[in-house]
Amino acid sequence: MSVESKPPASTPPMGWNSWNQFGHKVDEKVIRETADAMVSSGLKDCGYEYVVIDDCWSRKSGRDSQGALVPDPERFPSGIKALADHVHGRGLKIGIYSDAAEKTCGSHPGSLGFEEQDAALWASWGIDFLKYDYCNAPEDQATAIERYTRMGDALRRTGREFLFSLCEWGGRSPHVWGRKAGGHMWRVSGDVYDSWVNLWMAAWNTYAIGVDVSIDLAADLAEFGGPGGWNDLDMLVVGLKGRGQISGAGMSPIEYQTHMSMWCMACSPLMIGCDLRRLEPDTAALLLNREVLAVNQDPLGKPARRMKRFGACEIWAKPLADGATAVALLNRGSRGEDVHLLAGDIGLSDEPKLARDIWAGEDLADFTKEMVRRVQPHETILLKIKG
Ligand code: GLA
Repeated sequence: MSVESKPPASTPPMGWNSWNQFGHKVDEKVIRETADAMVSSGLKDCGYEYVVIDDCWSRKSGRDSQGALVPDPERFPSGIKALADHVHGRGLKIGIYSDAAEKTCGSHPGSLGFEEQDAALWASWGIDFLKYDYCNAPEDQATAIERYTRMGDALRRTGREFLFSLCEWGGRSPHVWGRKAGGHMWRVSGDVYDSWVNLWMAAWNTYAIGVDVSIDLAADLAEFGGPGGWNDLDMLVVGLKGRGQISGAGMSPIEYQTHMSMWCMACSPLMIGCDLRRLEPDTAALLLNREVLAVNQDPLGKPARRMKRFGACEIWAKPLADGATAVALLNRGSRGEDVHLLAGDIGLSDEPKLARDIWAGEDLADFTKEMVRRVQPHETILLKIKG
């Protein structure tokens, strides 16, 4: 998978974002070391491409006298251009963050009214990706469309290729208008926490969502994702294990595996959120499995659909470019279950078909009419079936 050969977002974007692990403490050392780790760990060779600096990179006290954004002098003393050069020197791309209002979620300067100036500045630094948030902006859809379109146009006018990541959390149906606004991916939910279940956030008087609930959003929006524009289920929480800046006590290894499996099946962008400088073997195994990543990056670009539900178990199917079908057998319940997969459930005939367990990397006996697999609580078994 070569980084250079693909137009932006022809397959779901892959990379790393600073927010989940580092929050407002992100600095240039973290970004440099993360880019280095993306290469040395083999993640780059697997297709991870963007290193994205999220909120809080700019000086909180405001713009300079010319109205330009200023990198925080303590955390980014060498400036963003030098950082971009470092990241590009590793054969990777660099992303930055702003907000369609006066202030970002973390109360740093936003880009409202400065779209052209900010886009030109980012282009001059060599930025390749913008995540554009929606804190402190009006709730209605028309304003969101207008503000995102304005930034999409400004990015285009720089003449530099930007990947434009919309982050208004799904409330104004960005899956409907995101592409037209110039977006290549759009968040479908609020922030996903490092948790299987939803978490009560007292400060906001609402629930923050866990991985289990995101799976339903992926099912509802499957038809809207495809080459050039993707439903973004939010950054990965794989590997955080409760140690990130975001909330959540972490998940079990099986739950992280389901999270990765379903983000891949749904064609969600895969933006890693954990500290890559200390990549643990179990986390590396989830992030670097080429057969699993191939499901996400399949050139046909068709998000999986939920084909069947029975009790807590679900069967999802995703057509692949080589004519095969990727299948997820998912158990969202708290007891182990025997899941019966019928060829007809996923639109296939009863003729013998090749079947492979993708996570196990094992060919199975030919699949004809029915297959029974034991699926543990919160586990996902991924299969590739070719007839
Ligand atoms: C919002 C976004 C997050 C992150 C933070 C930064 O909550 O949804 O992904 O960018 O802002 O403040």
